[in-house]
Amino acid sequence: MPKCGVIGNWKMNQSLEEIQTFFNDLKFTADGGTFGIVPQALHIQKCLELAKGSGLQIGSQNISEHDNGAFTGELSAQAVKEIGAGFTLVGHSERRSLYGETNQIVNEKVIKALSLGLTPVLCIGESLEQRESGQTFDIVLSQIKEGLKSVSIDNVDQLVLAYEPVWAIGTGKTASPEQAQEVHAKIRALLIEIYPSLGNEMSILYGGSVKPSNIKYLLSQKDINGGLVGGASLTAQSFSELCEAADFANK
Ligand code: PGA
Repeated sequence: MPKCGVIGNWKMNQSLEEIQTFFNDLKFTADGGTFGIVPQALHIQKCLELAKGSGLQIGSQNISEHDNGAFTGELSAQAVKEIGAGFTLVGHSERRSLYGETNQIVNEKVIKALSLGLTPVLCIGESLEQRESGQTFDIVLSQIKEGLKSVSIDNVDQLVLAYEPVWAIGTGKTASPEQAQEVHAKIRALLIEIYPSLGNEMSILYGGSVKPSNIKYLLSQKDINGGLVGGASLTAQSFSELCEAADFANK
């Protein structure tokens, strides 16, 4: 069984002063499990320094699918790796909906990250319209199949999945633990089908309005191995509580 963890997705938030306060106030020390933060790219280095000794991993929110070249404003995976980050989100729903990332681009990013030894956290999830028209499983499973196209079994121990129903992100509306588990179980079955020896060991995080008050119910579900958390990861108090809940679930 994968160990539970929490990744805080700070999106385009947190000033340097707020980051300093966050790490000063952080109570949690990670010991096993996937615990980490993805700050804005410019703050990765600062966070790497401040996170020393906390056991928290620092990652990026995005990488380019290209190696290098004339791509103004893009973030090279190599640079992310060189600076010392260990993982990257790939295909977050905001990247898909606001910046036109298709499953094919997401697939190229997954392959790029793996080729450099950065762990991709592949984000998937359906919109409200897709859920209401009964397409949830089709959408989520095809995002995984296409996102992992040509990704060989030799690489997948470094892969994390994050199921984030788009209608639950930043809305305060969390999927019920049962609703989330229903999708996580399908994801688990697909991972086992694609990667028979590893599918059971891969972490599947849930994201979408996860808070200290609901995380333990989500973690009580068999195939939910932690949270990808936006709003509730911004203060040390709330982030520490989320991490403690995941840590407790590991014991
Ligand atoms: P939220 O964001 O926790 O604020 O809903 C989650 C995410 O977008 O990863």
